[in-house]
Amino acid sequence: MNLLVTGGAGFIGSSYVRLARRQRPDALVVNVDALTYAGNLENLRDLEGDSKHLFVRADIRDGAKMLELLRTHAIDAIVHFAAESHVDRSILSAEPFLDTNVVGTLRLLEAARAAGVRRFLQVSTDEVYGSLGPEGAFEETTPVSPRSPYSASKTAADHFVMAFHHTHGMDTVITRCSNNYGPFQFPEKLIPLMILNAFEGKPLPVYGDGLYVRDWIHVEDHCEAVDLVLERGTTGEVYNVGAENERPNMDVVRTILRLTGRDESLIRHVPDRPGHDRRYAMNARKVREQLGWRPRHNFDQGLADTVAWYRANPAWADRIRSGAYRDYYETQYASRLAAT
Ligand SMILES: NC(=O)c1ccc[n+]([C@@H]2O[C@H](COP(=O)([O-])OP(=O)(O)OC[C@H]3O[C@@H](n4cnc5c(N)ncnc54)[C@H](O)[C@@H]3O)[C@@H](O)[C@H]2O)c1
Repeated sequence: MNLLVTGGAGFIGSSYVRLARRQRPDALVVNVDALTYAGNLENLRDLEGDSKHLFVRADIRDGAKMLELLRTHAIDAIVHFAAESHVDRSILSAEPFLDTNVVGTLRLLEAARAAGVRRFLQVSTDEVYGSLGPEGAFEETTPVSPRSPYSASKTAADHFVMAFHHTHGMDTVITRCSNNYGPFQFPEKLIPLMILNAFEGKPLPVYGDGLYVRDWIHVEDHCEAVDLVLERGTTGEVYNVGAENERPNMDVVRTILRLTGRDESLIRHVPDRPGHDRRYAMNARKVREQLGWRPRHNFDQGLADTVAWYRANPAWADRIRSGAYRDYYETQYASRLAAT
């Protein structure tokens, strides 16, 4: 099965490309990524020299280019990760989220249909379901209720995917996963942000009371679920993916401080993210029971390993943080930290 993976130079996409190459030694993986601020070819360094991994720098909104790639490489299935992925950035400016997540997904669907691609897998998020109170978990049947520009754009994309299934009979599947962590995650996201600040003894900016609950999953477990759904998921269906690791942000931050040998005086409660969803939790019974998926990573060990990875790879993080990331960090946190 020849695959076209979008966003394969990003955090989760690069992990998936590695998995896909291990799983299917004879199949081609065409990796399409525009290399935005979040795309990084260093994430793929271990695939250098792999003749079955073809990296193409291209934008998913370029429908003609997508169609050409699908036809030239006789692509059987698309695994679609490419997205603007950070909620805080969507609050600063929503337009790129509409462009890539909605228009980009639509262009890719149109190209897939024109090329007769057998299966289209949309990588989505638990955030499409909105926010939970203290009890319960999102099911696949939970009505969508997006609350940030990011989740609104992912929800719209999911709707287009379903519309192409129902209207055009396209074979589509959607995975909706909870918060990922692991190596190669861009340091705007909670866990690498806190790890890198803790290494340097810098303040750790925690939104609001820090009691927002996220359901953490190791990136490799997410990718294994995506691959199972690609192979064996039922057409037209949605599969929730989560590893039942609900933690308030403060617990995660305290654990990171312990793992990095820092004390809690570094914690700064800063003005909250507007519209911050209180709690996410996933019911992943369907992917477990129907497809036999099981997460392999224990959260405490996975977090310790992730801290160790960032400790062992300072150059990776330094290169990212020397660029446009520094401006973003200033915009997002300088005035918030000054307010504490
Ligand atoms: N990170 C999470 O916790 C999480 C959880 C659930 C679902 N997801 C979904 O998984 C996917 C990947 O997330 P991530 O955390 O790896 O994101 P990321 O920001 O690390 O990577 C996104 C990648 O997409 C590429 N890209 C962006 N716009 C593009 C365009 N127009 N054309 C081609 N490439 C483009 C970027 O260059 C980057 O390499 C996203 O669809 C996201 O919504 C993420």
